[in-house]
Amino acid sequence: MGAARDGFVGVFDSGLGGISVLRSLVAELPHEDFRYFGDSANAPYGEKTEAQVLELSRSIADRFLAEGAKAIVIACNTATSASAATLRAAHPDVPIVGIEPALKPAARAFPHGRILVMATEMTLNLDKYHELARAWGGECEVVPVPCPGLAARIERGDLDAPDLGEMVEGLVGGYAGSVDAVVLGCTHYPFVRTQVERALGPGVAFFDGGAGTARQLRKRLAEEGLLSGRVRPGSVEFASSLDTPDELALYRGFFSMPL
Ligand code: DGL
Repeated sequence: MGAARDGFVGVFDSGLGGISVLRSLVAELPHEDFRYFGDSANAPYGEKTEAQVLELSRSIADRFLAEGAKAIVIACNTATSASAATLRAAHPDVPIVGIEPALKPAARAFPHGRILVMATEMTLNLDKYHELARAWGGECEVVPVPCPGLAARIERGDLDAPDLGEMVEGLVGGYAGSVDAVVLGCTHYPFVRTQVERALGPGVAFFDGGAGTARQLRKRLAEEGLLSGRVRPGSVEFASSLDTPDELALYRGFFSMPL
């Protein structure tokens, strides 16, 4: 199907985490129409197999394309690792932009620093991450920190509840006072940045892949002549595989919450 400039950009994640990326996409490309799909009924992806995540990602991408998407953003580090190469090979004519842990800018900012990479176990186990760490880790001490359960807990909302702060403390508190930077390598985690800051203490720099992904989408749309030519603001629509009014209200809340 030939993509059209007036088509929408389909954005997906295992759940509501990719809304952190969507916020960057809308800030970078305010004239585009975005449709966000969160697969909350199947979250968390990080605790599934690579083959399962590939299959789920493939069916979401196919649906977006059948509905007229001109581009797709995989707003999930886990799904990018498991599916981006396969989806691009299947749809070479469509810009498909993924997200990866922002280790490159973190390592550039702290070339001899100690950098924590918080991500799902699957992201940290797959080749894509090992290649990234080899290519950009340089002289840094890169410490992978798998965070089982964290994305699933964020999916439930109620971010100010004490149990969430305690969970984050349990995952990273042991590194307090000994790190220069943290890479939030799962798109759910920017929503608990405050809790991570609290657990690690002051003076830690944070990096996530949202802004870089948005710049990459702009570049790919421009290369393909697909940037919207409109001057009015674009639209943002939300859908979820847990398609209840409560779930969609949670998504909208995450879209507008101050971070
Ligand atoms: N938000 C996803 C990521 O960026 C995955 C969370 C999950 O479903 O495990 O990796």
